[in-house]
Amino acid sequence: MNPSSGQDDQRPRLHFTPPGNWMNDPNGLVFCEGEYHLFYQHHPFDLQWGPMHWGHAVSRDLIHWEHLPIALAPDEHGTIFSGCAVVDENDTSGFFGGGKGLVAVFTQHAERPQTREPLQRQSIAYSKDNGRTWTKYAGNPVLGDESVLDFRDPKAIWHEAAAKWVMVVSAGDRVRFYTSPDLKEWTFASDFGAGEGSHAGVWECPDLFELPVDGGAAGRKWVLMVSVGGDPDDPAGSGTQYFVGSFDGTAFVNDHPSDTVLWMDRGRDNYAGATWSNIPREDGRRLFIGWMVNLKYAGVTPATVWRGAMTLPRELTLADTAEGPRIVQQPVAEVERLREEIGRWSDTVLRSGAEWTGDASGNALEAVAEFEPDTAAEVGIRFGTAPGEETIVGYDARRGELFIDRTCSGRTDFHELFPCRHAAPLDPAERRLRLWIFVDRSSVEVFAGDGRLVMTDLIFPSGPNRSVALYSLGGDAKLSSLTLYRLA
Ligand code: FRU
Repeated sequence: MNPSSGQDDQRPRLHFTPPGNWMNDPNGLVFCEGEYHLFYQHHPFDLQWGPMHWGHAVSRDLIHWEHLPIALAPDEHGTIFSGCAVVDENDTSGFFGGGKGLVAVFTQHAERPQTREPLQRQSIAYSKDNGRTWTKYAGNPVLGDESVLDFRDPKAIWHEAAAKWVMVVSAGDRVRFYTSPDLKEWTFASDFGAGEGSHAGVWECPDLFELPVDGGAAGRKWVLMVSVGGDPDDPAGSGTQYFVGSFDGTAFVNDHPSDTVLWMDRGRDNYAGATWSNIPREDGRRLFIGWMVNLKYAGVTPATVWRGAMTLPRELTLADTAEGPRIVQQPVAEVERLREEIGRWSDTVLRSGAEWTGDASGNALEAVAEFEPDTAAEVGIRFGTAPGEETIVGYDARRGELFIDRTCSGRTDFHELFPCRHAAPLDPAERRLRLWIFVDRSSVEVFAGDGRLVMTDLIFPSGPNRSVALYSLGGDAKLSSLTLYRLA
């Protein structure tokens, strides 16, 4: 990064970034009175992680964000770690004089005086003016347990059938469920996770929601998402796993054997994601956003003005498969409003070793492509940003894997694990190869098979997109269709 020019011209055009300084997890995702709120872990005075505050922005379309003043700042109970926000419709908390308002539920992080180990407890705050100003509850913290060091990231939901609030919160190698009538008094209900799924790192940022399977044709299931800090020896680093099962307001029961591991995203850079609460029934979408980074290098990505970006907001659905229901992700439909078509191509043969190249300038591009790999060993799209600088999204037909290659994508020297080509298996049923790709100034997101396999990666090119090139290796392939858009 050239410090004299600052980093502002490198800002993603579609992806949320903080006005300045450090950002990590999305927090307090809630929809209220026509606005989507996005709070986030924020160090307002430094490009590095430090005393955490909640930054704040609002949007009416999930694309254009208005930055608002810091919502929550550290106090005598500690700094403000991750958490959620809910609309207390019926004033169960008593904060709103019989009306409704927003309640944030979050972790406060402090140090134990003797050992200097973390002391993490849950607190609440309320807002009567749609999130513009917040009052911390005088009875904070509302939930503590000094027997666990990592006790954080509460997600509270109103459980209709049980008619009470449920909180899921991470507690070391598991999550715990608590229930409450009023968001103030919490009673332990159960725990889940010891020996289940991936334990490659600390469990953080749980989320819990119910979704119809195949639009309701195959019933409904509960999803429990948990971010996993990552195995120090595994180059894949941090990621977000999910469990599918049932939840009765008290206990989560996993549908799968405990050694099944399901990942939300098979790219390197999607962590600590969460979903919006209180989306109106007539909309009904389950909307997700993640912090676009890997813990392996979160503190050393090129930055002079701001550090940290979110994924595109995505809609989550559950699709029935032979192995059971699986999460499908798609960018929210609102993104389509930004499309300016660059061109459309169909039924083109890609000769082995040759390239089909087109101009495609723009800070943010969307490509919708369908290939038939035929005899090719590899097919792919190169997104060129400067001579010799490109990011490749491709398919290795011999291994049946989708890959992103960011080896020559621009700045990669800030961490040894950053320059890489990495891959994930594509369901054989998806081998007609439908790719939906978003390339912004510092990221690439690939939704394959309509979003059944997703890969999200950061990139740091020296400039905006300039060209696309389609190629085939080791045999001919067919490009059934390609539509390219500039997103403006
Ligand atoms: C995840 C996380 C959370 C914590 C927050 C602190 O990235 O470690 O578990 O609440 O970040 O900033």
